[in-house]
Amino acid sequence: MFITFEGIDGCGKTTQIRYLTDFLEQNGFEVVATREPGGTDFSEQLRDILLHSKHKISPISELFLFNAARAHLIETLILPAIKNNKVVISDRFYDSTLAYQGYGRGLNKEDIEKCNEIIKQMGAIPNVTFLLDISTEDALQRREGEKKDRIESSDINFFEKVRNGYLKIAEQEPNRVKVINASQEKHITSEKIKKIIQEIMKI
Ligand SMILES: Nc1ncnc2c1ncn2[C@@H]1O[C@H](COP(=O)(O)OP(=O)(O)OP(=O)(O)O)[C@@H](O)[C@H]1O
Ligand SMILES: [Mg+2]
Repeated sequence: MFITFEGIDGCGKTTQIRYLTDFLEQNGFEVVATREPGGTDFSEQLRDILLHSKHKISPISELFLFNAARAHLIETLILPAIKNNKVVISDRFYDSTLAYQGYGRGLNKEDIEKCNEIIKQMGAIPNVTFLLDISTEDALQRREGEKKDRIESSDINFFEKVRNGYLKIAEQEPNRVKVINASQEKHITSEKIKKIIQEIMKI
């Protein structure tokens, strides 16, 4: 089982992954929670470059770096864990690339889809993706006072484009991508996610 969480910065992915991990573990599942970019030593180094370095990184260079980190994560962590019957939960996956680099940065979406195709051929396709949807203003407010990384420092228009991009992705793949209203209280959001997981995993 492979579950991914998506949504703009501050929507509550990390919080909800924690709740879902606890719930699944209480039900006897072994859970491997990971994040993108990152999750392995190699990919965390790329994360540092992508999010915390002062380099000027062009959108196309950014695209390949994200995919390099993703490929390594799939090979060394995601696929082996799925093979061992673990539940893998990833904080972001390939929908982030289409939403941020495609809809946000304006890179050619077909080119991004081509990269995503290569990733899909590796065999890691999420069974379900939770898109935590929240207004950019609310998300910004939640992150007030936090130190922002290179991408988080983008302006509100960028996040507006990313949010709308995510909603288009969900429209195109309604079976996989479940849109969850994330502006509600954490436990209400968590209950909605749990209900969907209970149905899918027959818990
Ligand atoms: N439903 C909620 N209502 C109010 N505050 C929330 C809710 N969910 C999360 N928060 C708070 O909002 C902040 C951002 O949440 P969180 O870190 O889970 O989001 P994220 O999507 O992982 O963000 P990032 O992309 O920056 O990692 C945290 O301070 C968290 O405690
Ligand atoms: Mg987070």
